Amino acid sequence: MNILIIGSGGREHALAWKIKQSAQCDHLYIAPGNPGTADLGQNVAIGVNDFSALYELVLDKSIDIVVVGPEDPLVNGIYDFFMEKEYTGKIIGPSKEGAQLEGSKAFSKKFMARHDVPTAAYAEFDQNNYEEGVQYLRKHSLPIVLKADGLAAGKGVVIANTTEEALQTFEDMILHKQFGDASSKVVIEQFLSGIEVSVFVLTDGQQYKIIGHAKDYKRIGEGDTGLNTGGMGCVTPVPFMDEAFMQQVENNIIRPTVNGLAKENIDYKGFIFFGLINVDGEPFVIEYNSRMGDPETEVVLPRLKTDIVDLFEAVYNGNLEEIEVQYNAGSFATVVAVSGGYPGDYAKGKKITVAGNLGTSILFHAGTKANENGDTLTNGGRVLTVTSSGADITAAVQQSLDNLAKIDFEGMNFRRDIGYEFK
Ligand code: AMP
Ligand code: GLY
Repeated sequence: MNILIIGSGGREHALAWKIKQSAQCDHLYIAPGNPGTADLGQNVAIGVNDFSALYELVLDKSIDIVVVGPEDPLVNGIYDFFMEKEYTGKIIGPSKEGAQLEGSKAFSKKFMARHDVPTAAYAEFDQNNYEEGVQYLRKHSLPIVLKADGLAAGKGVVIANTTEEALQTFEDMILHKQFGDASSKVVIEQFLSGIEVSVFVLTDGQQYKIIGHAKDYKRIGEGDTGLNTGGMGCVTPVPFMDEAFMQQVENNIIRPTVNGLAKENIDYKGFIFFGLINVDGEPFVIEYNSRMGDPETEVVLPRLKTDIVDLFEAVYNGNLEEIEVQYNAGSFATVVAVSGGYPGDYAKGKKITVAGNLGTSILFHAGTKANENGDTLTNGGRVLTVTSSGADITAAVQQSLDNLAKIDFEGMNFRRDIGYEFK
């Protein structure tokens, strides 16, 4: 089978690494890919939103399965574009309507309300009921959470600790269009307190399989301090996500969500990332994403034993529930190395050196590029991540840290305390 992965980050490198292990994968292409994916398949320089060029590539290379990595092309309707062309292969990634679970906070909140999925109480405002929103913010207890409705590159959520900050954020988002059209509508929701975890599911819109879960560390600083990032590291499995907790997640959240998709005839053949918060042992949904997480994929797929291509096939053959998902033993951790200054301004183009080999750890590239001399250079905020496994979280994290000591680039920064609560 010929398989195409769309995207260029650590998530896509991890997908390539996993797909390449399947005996069913004959040729692997990644568009546009990165220097890490180039070792596993053929990178093709096409952007993730250039649907026409991607479609031509799919015909030219007789691609059987297209796996869409990031949210952007999904929310922009890559699935629908391929369907209109009567593509006969398999696309892993929901329709434009399905991707609204991630693409519109208002859509996802309404969807959860319709299907009784536990989530924070909320209200929705735009220019037309702006004054009502102001009154709502004045009378609500703090902290309070404001969310731009649309995609805002992970920056559209503000947790306001004072009414003043809440009102200013609200004004910036709606009246000053801080995130353009993405913030013309704003969801205001109750603040929930607890530990955040993510659960990953593959679905055909009727049946589903859980393929893993993870806890990620979003803040730049050790001890969960400083600014939010795309993710500084992850661990799996998470000790408190035992059978009883997962049973609640399935019964109260996953099943109602997938049943909701089926009931509303939403075409959804792809991943659902359930961003959850554990409030005193009870799971609530913070957000849905219509794709895998990054860096969560970099621990979830190394832990997954089952052939992922079998799972993709099952999505289109209607037998997903017949597959028994198996996991590799032990704990898995990934630690992300970022550019100095990230998540603020940072320099690119710094040479990356790796001294010696990393043993059983896996180096996944995220923001990297190759130059004409064959050097690998930094090319983003999150540059690379090292995944390791071990008898427990402590051992897995330590192995990643030991290997990060062999890697260097100017300004390199990473957290040494990934998984700290579980050690
Ligand atoms: P989202 O883009 O919806 O995932 O929000 C980004 C981050 O904001 C989440 O990962 C949480 O850390 C935080 N957050 C979002 N909604 C809430 C909430 N209702 N209560 C507490 N924290 C939240
Ligand atoms: N690590 C969070 C995300 O992928 O959205």
